[in-house]
Amino acid sequence: MSMKATAIAHPNIAFIKYWGLKDEVGRLPANDSISMNIGCLSTRTMVEYDRSLEKDTLTLNDQKVTRPALQRVTAFLDHIRRKTNSQYFAHVRSENNFPIGAGLASSASAFAALALAGTAALGLHLSEKDLSGLARYGSGSACRSIPGGFVEWRTDPLVGESFAFSFAPADHWNLVDLIAILSEEHKLVGSEAGMISALSSPFQEARVQDAPRRLDLCRKAILNRDINALAKVTELDSNMMHAVMMTSDPPLFYWHPGSLAIMKAVKEWQKQDIPVTYTLDAGPNVHVICLQEAMRMVLSRLRQIPTVLKILKGMPAGPARLLAANTSK
Ligand code: DP6
Repeated sequence: MSMKATAIAHPNIAFIKYWGLKDEVGRLPANDSISMNIGCLSTRTMVEYDRSLEKDTLTLNDQKVTRPALQRVTAFLDHIRRKTNSQYFAHVRSENNFPIGAGLASSASAFAALALAGTAALGLHLSEKDLSGLARYGSGSACRSIPGGFVEWRTDPLVGESFAFSFAPADHWNLVDLIAILSEEHKLVGSEAGMISALSSPFQEARVQDAPRRLDLCRKAILNRDINALAKVTELDSNMMHAVMMTSDPPLFYWHPGSLAIMKAVKEWQKQDIPVTYTLDAGPNVHVICLQEAMRMVLSRLRQIPTVLKILKGMPAGPARLLAANTSK
């Protein structure tokens, strides 16, 4: 008997951020969000259910991992086990080709790949919508790594359905995400812990209230391939999320001095008509997003900034995919 599957998923970068939950049990976000999958970066995950196991095991980049990462994986697999009435524990092997925990949303690609492999290994083939809805129980942003290209994560306020869908394919717009890495250290306060305190900031309510307007502007900018409009709303949204973080109790400062140096540089480059923008997640690294035609110039300018350790490059990418499944019983 074999119950094994392997899946691959890309992380995503949000133009309109998810920060805070309105329902922790149902994992419903405080506001809808918009993102783009990042090609070149990926997580590949193999799940094998095994009758003889007494608990799940987790290997991350060839290293055996215990709590708290294993606990989070087990909680997510418990979700799948309840759904499928299965009792088997699993070996999970996951490989990332990018640094974990440095604000690169490794949890997004990790739980998207785990949702797909973890269900396929049991012979369950969920629709994209159901798979996305499932992945969000692992990590909110993971639901956006299930569909391809440019993605929106929406929650229906009436029925509470919450899942992400693609509104433009990966080849719709040749943007490039140049991720300026300033630190590869594991971040001190993860998104999960940080979000719990979001409501303690007086700015969170205003950020959430204004989200529908920013979502409209962002969706239109992407559909019209309008980099100036995208820059305006993306930077505003990133700044607003960081303003909430900085004014939460306890306050969270994810920016490093080098992060601010890049943001200011991007503002200067825009004055020189370079089609570029920036956004930051819960970490110091800066996603510098530009049109492909400007990539060489932006890359060479980023390389001149001394605090930049390295630069990762990603183009818009497709959906999470199953690489192999063997479920003969
Ligand atoms: C700042 O999805 O990592 O990257 O749901 O607690 O696992 P959990 O959080 P996660 O949060 C991502 C937050 C963000 C913004 C975003 O990607 O929308």
